[in-house]
Amino acid sequence: MKILFAISGASAASLGLKAFNLIDGDHEKYLVLSDSAKKVLKIEENLTFDNNDISAPPASGSAMFEAMIIAPCSMNTLAKIACGISDNLITRSAAATIKEKRKLLIAPRELPFDPIALENMLKLARLNVIIAPPAIAYYAGKKDIETLENQIIGKWFDLLGIKNDLYSRWRG
Ligand SMILES: Cc1cc2nc3c(=O)[nH]c(=O)nc-3n(C[C@H](O)[C@H](O)[C@H](O)COP(=O)(O)O)c2cc1C
Repeated sequence: MKILFAISGASAASLGLKAFNLIDGDHEKYLVLSDSAKKVLKIEENLTFDNNDISAPPASGSAMFEAMIIAPCSMNTLAKIACGISDNLITRSAAATIKEKRKLLIAPRELPFDPIALENMLKLARLNVIIAPPAIAYYAGKKDIETLENQIIGKWFDLLGIKNDLYSRWRG
C-alpha cells in the first residue's frame, strides 16, 4: 500500500512517529510534518515531504496514495480539513484524499474536545473519514506505556488494512 503519514500538533507527536516507523517495508511510506510537530521531533529527512511544498506528489490525487494517516491531528489541522482549507501539504493532501474517496484516518488529540472540534469530527466522519483518537484501552489490565501505545497503533493499522501483530486481540 502507498501510505502518506502526517503528524500535526504537538502532544503525542512521538506516538505518530513511532507508528510511522512501525509500518513495515511491504508498504511504500512517506512522512510529512507540520511546523509545530517538527519542533519536537528529530526526523531522518529521506522519507519526508516539506509541509510548505504544496506541489509535492501527495497534493494531487493522481499520485495514487491509497491511505493517509494524520496522527496526532491538532484541532487546528482538523478544523482546516473540515472546512476544505488546503493551505499546506497536510491539509491539501487530506482534501485530495477525501476528493478521491480514499482512506483517511485522523487521530485528533485534545482533552477535552470542545463543540467546534466535535462538529468538525462529525462532519468528517460523515464523509467516511475514520476518526480514531489515541484512546488508551484499559480492558487488558494495566500495561506499560509501550504495550498501550502498540495497542493504539495496532488499532489504527487494522482500520486501514495494514497487517500487524502489535497487540493481543480480544478473545472474550
Ligand atoms: C507543547 C504543545 C502541545 C500541544 N498539544 C496540542 C494538542 O494536543 N492538541 C492540539 O490540538 N493542539 C496542541 N497544541 C497546539 C498546536 O500545536 C497549535 O494549534 C498549532 O497551531 C497546530 O499547528 P498544526 O495544525 O499546523 O500542526 C500544542 C502546542 C504545544 C506548544
